[in-house]
Amino acid sequence: MNSQDLIDTASKIVADDKGLLAIDESIPTCNKRFAKQGIPQTEAARRAYRELIITTPRLGESISGLILYDETIRQQKTDGTPFIKAIVDAGIIPGIKVDTGAQEMALHPGEKVTEGLDGLRERLKEYSRMGARFAKWRAVIAVDESIPSRGCLEANAQALARYAALCQEAGIVPVVEPEVLMQGDHTIERCRELTEDALHTVFAHLYTQRVMLEGTILKPNMVLPGLTCPQQEGVDAAADITVTCLLRSVPAAVPGIAFLSGGQSGELASARLNAMNVRFKSHLPWGVAFSFGRAIQQPALEIWNGRETNVAAAQQALYHRARCNRAARRGEYVAAMEKPWKWDGVSGAKAA
Ligand code: G3H
Repeated sequence: MNSQDLIDTASKIVADDKGLLAIDESIPTCNKRFAKQGIPQTEAARRAYRELIITTPRLGESISGLILYDETIRQQKTDGTPFIKAIVDAGIIPGIKVDTGAQEMALHPGEKVTEGLDGLRERLKEYSRMGARFAKWRAVIAVDESIPSRGCLEANAQALARYAALCQEAGIVPVVEPEVLMQGDHTIERCRELTEDALHTVFAHLYTQRVMLEGTILKPNMVLPGLTCPQQEGVDAAADITVTCLLRSVPAAVPGIAFLSGGQSGELASARLNAMNVRFKSHLPWGVAFSFGRAIQQPALEIWNGRETNVAAAQQALYHRARCNRAARRGEYVAAMEKPWKWDGVSGAKAA
């Protein structure tokens, strides 16, 4: 392991107000999203959709890294160029999702533990040879009155830490993702309490496994009320409580925090990220960035709808959402950016 390389890659991921774009949906998840749109659930369609994303003009202005899935990292553009080469040529860092999914946890009804440690050392070596410079592992923490349990928090944190150690041994930056889910009627205060607990548990295990924090990116949930909670706090209140929670639980040595979107709309995710940066950016020890999947991709997926003729319009939508999130990192995102925008092919998407 070369510590300086890890530190450099982790710093680059959150440098220049950019963030990550997750296109690492597993085959079943990608197929589920395609099915909703009536898009064929085939390897060819998944490849075409990922090519649309990877070849979006000027994506690298706002996106520092792309998180791929095992199928995607092995695919090529229509002209035969490997996706990995196209990504690097666009000035974007390739990354890879390496967990194999969340499975029901024994003796813990309603809870899951993420798997994928078996054979991970060998898989990381192969991904590194292919050009991946960072990886992602997602743990999911479900919430109701009686969960999460200590067992679930500890098992997931330990797996995240063992994954992170294996990544760093292979020279790959680990993106560590403990996600407290939004499903449920819990209050924002309960989300804060659970997120704080989950993060303290994760960092204790990272320490035990000797993971170098300077070469690690944290990918947490924002602190938000459950989707069916009657009390839904505004953007500023959510920003305040999220930053309070992170200041209490994330060591200053971590270079960046890149939030997942977790099913929020693109606009809301940008507005919440923006509020955190407007209110706190100048006095936070780490960069507050994004690692969104749906909150960047969704409009593009809907516009594309499986049709070659829609590729350019879908790319405009993708570019637009990526650009909004870079603005949010700077505290410069405003709702007016969401007014109908046009694409002139030269200067990019603009507010009308
Ligand atoms: O693991 C989760 C994904 O990388 C981020 O997806 O922003 O749609 O929650 P999301």
